[in-house]
Amino acid sequence: MCQYSAFDGFVSDWHLAHYAGLARGGAGLVIVEATAVSPEGRITPGCTGIWSDEHAEGLARIAAAIQAAGAVPGIQIAHAGRKASANRPWEGDDHIPDSDPRAWETIAPSAVAYGANLPKVPREMTIEDIARVRDDFARAAARARDAGFEWLELHFAHGYLAQSFFSVHSNHRTDSYGGDAHGRGRFHLETLAAVRAEWPERLPLTARFGVIEYDGRDEETLTESIALTKRMRDGGLDMLSVSIGFSTPAASIPWGPAFLAPVAERVRREAGLPVSSAWGFDDPQVADRMLSESKLDLVMIGRAHLADPHYPYTAAQKLGKERPTWVLPAPYAHWLERYRPSAA
Ligand SMILES: Cc1cc2nc3c(=O)[nH]c(=O)nc-3n(C[C@H](O)[C@H](O)[C@H](O)COP(=O)(O)O)c2cc1C
Repeated sequence: MCQYSAFDGFVSDWHLAHYAGLARGGAGLVIVEATAVSPEGRITPGCTGIWSDEHAEGLARIAAAIQAAGAVPGIQIAHAGRKASANRPWEGDDHIPDSDPRAWETIAPSAVAYGANLPKVPREMTIEDIARVRDDFARAAARARDAGFEWLELHFAHGYLAQSFFSVHSNHRTDSYGGDAHGRGRFHLETLAAVRAEWPERLPLTARFGVIEYDGRDEETLTESIALTKRMRDGGLDMLSVSIGFSTPAASIPWGPAFLAPVAERVRREAGLPVSSAWGFDDPQVADRMLSESKLDLVMIGRAHLADPHYPYTAAQKLGKERPTWVLPAPYAHWLERYRPSAA
């Protein structure tokens, strides 16, 4: 989850403390935030980047710290497309005005703005731009591999660049990267192929993808999304992280605990690919049921884990494990098995 605490894309000590803390708290897998494959692919000036070997050095320390604290180190690589060049959420969450020297040119499949708080009109990408960003993803994957990450997630969701290729709201192209669902999914398949060539076969490669927009076109979008997921599966994708499109401010999202679960389960069943999901799975009973009934293969925990860095330990206790020391690294677990609070 974006920490908006990087400088020129370089991670800070905050990132090291934050990610190692989540791992130490008992997570099985910690995925480092949306990390931009190129400078213009950052959402905000505070977003992390992996567009040079120097950027990867700090990320390698984070991967090692996550591993040392007992979790699998993962990273999400991303390009924000038309949602880039924005202020941090707590500084407005809107586009930086063009008159501000911190602003930069945004690119997208078509020169169509998102709207609402993000009114900036992006430049329509040329074929050369598309090939360059695809190759940026591949180079980022190679750096992530060399930095010691063992799980790679492509950010194809949330209205960022790849999602905006797929969405009819943002892709009005008439060439082979637009038009029908095949054309709108071409960027994904080509990027996946370029990344898979760099990312080792033995390590999981996943994509986070908004399979539904909640914009009234839902059955059509879901059918197209499942078809693209099958093609990505055939192209070497190991798991889909099922999420929301966020391609239009006019969406009407039915927020609620685990509301995306039936959608994720359908993608899993129809696409024949393992799925993970997020959004409101923080009730451990609900998450546990989803997994034990094989509705999902993995549950991702976001805000609850920020609120409680030992969330996995707490969740295991709520599931009836009195001293779930198996979620903690040995230097903690050894003592906690014997520890009795003096007030008890
Ligand atoms: C501060 C913040 C940062 C986020 N950053 C990312 C991100 O980098 N990549 C991503 O795919 N989702 C991101 N998200 C979405 C979360 O991954 C997650 O899907 C969302 O918070 C819902 O899950 P939850 O109900 O467990 O919090 C972010 C959400 C928040 C609140």
